[in-house]
Amino acid sequence: MPILYDKEHKLFHLQAADTSYIIQIFETGHLAHLYWGKRINKLSFNNFPITAVTNFKSTDPILPIDVVPQEFPSFGAGDFRTPAYQVQLENGSTVTDLLYVSHKIYKGKPSLDNLPSTYVENDDEADTLEITLEDKLTGLNVILLYTAYRELNVITRAAKLINLGKEKLKLLSALSMSVDFNDYNYDLLQLSGCWCRERHIFKRALVPGVQSIESKRGMSSHTQNPFIALLDKDVTETHGTVYGFNLIYSGNFLAQVEVDPNYLTRILMGINPFDFSWLLDVNESFQTPEVVMVYSDCGLGNMSRTYHNLYRKRLCRGNYRDKLRPILVNNWEATYFNFNADKIKSIANTAKELGIELFVLDDGWFGKRNSDNCSLGDWIVDKNKLPDGLESLVKSINDNGTKFGLWFEPEMVSPDSDLYRAHPDWCIHVPNRKPAQGKFQRNQLVLDLTREEVCNYIIDAVSNILKSAPISYVKWDMNRAISDVGSESLPAERQRETSHRYVLGLYKVMDKITSAFPNVLFESCASGGGRFDGGILYYMPQTWTSDDTDAVERLKIQYGTSIVYPAITMGAHVSASPNHQLGRETKLSTRADAAMAGNFGYELDLTKFTDEEKSIVKQQVEKYKEIRHITQFGDFYRLRNPFESNEAAWIFVSKDKKEAFASYFKVLAKPFTLPSRLVLEGLNPDYTYEVIGSDMTFGGDELMYIGLDTTELKGDFTSITWRLKAI
Ligand code: DGJ
Repeated sequence: MPILYDKEHKLFHLQAADTSYIIQIFETGHLAHLYWGKRINKLSFNNFPITAVTNFKSTDPILPIDVVPQEFPSFGAGDFRTPAYQVQLENGSTVTDLLYVSHKIYKGKPSLDNLPSTYVENDDEADTLEITLEDKLTGLNVILLYTAYRELNVITRAAKLINLGKEKLKLLSALSMSVDFNDYNYDLLQLSGCWCRERHIFKRALVPGVQSIESKRGMSSHTQNPFIALLDKDVTETHGTVYGFNLIYSGNFLAQVEVDPNYLTRILMGINPFDFSWLLDVNESFQTPEVVMVYSDCGLGNMSRTYHNLYRKRLCRGNYRDKLRPILVNNWEATYFNFNADKIKSIANTAKELGIELFVLDDGWFGKRNSDNCSLGDWIVDKNKLPDGLESLVKSINDNGTKFGLWFEPEMVSPDSDLYRAHPDWCIHVPNRKPAQGKFQRNQLVLDLTREEVCNYIIDAVSNILKSAPISYVKWDMNRAISDVGSESLPAERQRETSHRYVLGLYKVMDKITSAFPNVLFESCASGGGRFDGGILYYMPQTWTSDDTDAVERLKIQYGTSIVYPAITMGAHVSASPNHQLGRETKLSTRADAAMAGNFGYELDLTKFTDEEKSIVKQQVEKYKEIRHITQFGDFYRLRNPFESNEAAWIFVSKDKKEAFASYFKVLAKPFTLPSRLVLEGLNPDYTYEVIGSDMTFGGDELMYIGLDTTELKGDFTSITWRLKAI
């Protein structure tokens, strides 16, 4: 049984594949964290390294709690580090102390109340431990939920706080997990950026004190992804110990590392306590989101592949989870708001000619939407642009053999819209205060998804359109962060619940719509990658990675995103040159090679291609059709880091190692370079591989130890790819 309970030592030993995670109940009833790392098969209890600081034993009746590594620490009873939760009693005090009450161990993995989470399809895939803790004085109970996956180095955690006392409790913070390490000799890795520069990799050494990343934007955000990792000092892609933490949540979050005066390191992750509180009536409970914790003892690459395997199969859901994703063309950068039915049909017809499978009509098809200053919320087809309506347009595109997809931004309302005029109170706002408006708010307000009638309006409006025509794909956009947070439907003492209630409302809406239309492929978007997180991926299995479609910028954005999220979740399109965001000129081949590392598509006016370009695009489309089963379902190895060099490279390898697709990019040309070889990974050293399209063959060992020559690649922004097949 991969979760063991040793009664004598009051010790829980969770085993996930090659990982052990050990917790002990101390004599005092506190829950201490003893170990997380490489799997231990023979556990003796002699000399267990509890803490470097004080030589106390778990059986000591008095505990120096401030120096004990813990599992879900409280505040106010002697531990001065940041706690995992804090509650305020009716008398105003905030001191609580959680002690062990009981536990349960069972096969499988439960789902979380109204929140997305990783799952199992068969109870033999994972084991779950529930530990109940209690603060005797208040009756606050906390159930800590741990699931260990049997085949992956993954442990998931979440907590449920229940008020079993006699008075109301106010949660001031309710994080999902806490884990304490016995030293601080780590680097902290984070994925940070902004609009058009999402998920760049940053690394810093831990120092005493608090270091954290967070979102206060009502969305997981472009600024910080809800992910951190602790890395041993010598970590590379292939070597060293890594601990990854990813929150399955789409709203305000906090990921904090605190190095205390004794050099113990505490990791906390969960809903951001900033501007948050939650009133817990008697017998009510509060479920925190899940944190997916991955351990790797062989580098970052292995950690990423663990996340990729888990998310592809046990986070993403629906009919498209295991299906090859279609090649699409989106008209946004081709036309912006300026299109009519003929233009759309001509792009779609050209798409068909080039082998592209899906046409996506982006923003501008509804209300009077000729710019971004009106009509959001009025989901009625604009007959000026599409006089014969949507059904006729979709039918004509379908009849020509291309599928049809449609853009929505369901969470928003324009002040200039019939919806806003009818329901001015339906947006997130603070009464009598003029909401922030400007470039970053894009002339729009956010609908108040804490309200049931608003959620129902969105569900009906989107469903009606989806029922009105054979639509195969939806792009679900969200183009502003949430400011002026307040809801008219909540009482004063619950106003700080608005942000989390918004996320719960969003999940409910997404759940209803995606389950009602199981054959529609949903791709999320938030001004590009502003909500690229596990919470949204649970409902929509792919995300538009960034509004920056420049191939060179995409090298970093996609490389950074791949730290956690698999390529099958990343939308990546070939756009026009010069690029609309940067003005940079790149070759069509480089743009396609970069986009083939994600869900491939085009985002430009196909009708403007010359015949020569069309024939190149046709070949690109054919090539992607031949490799997409490898890139979408194979293993991903990062080979050259664009953040550390003038190059980027990676390889996708099929699960049976018989096929692979490798890509190498040179950003700027340099004179007098030494011969350069790209050493591959993930292949079978005993196989012989042919390079498709050439007469060359190589041994797998040769490719992984000697590598492929890239010296001849000349010019700026150039790339080369190899398709390998075992013979
Ligand atoms: C932001 C998205 O990221 C773009 O791709 C496009 O859909 C626009 N919104 C449309 O307003």
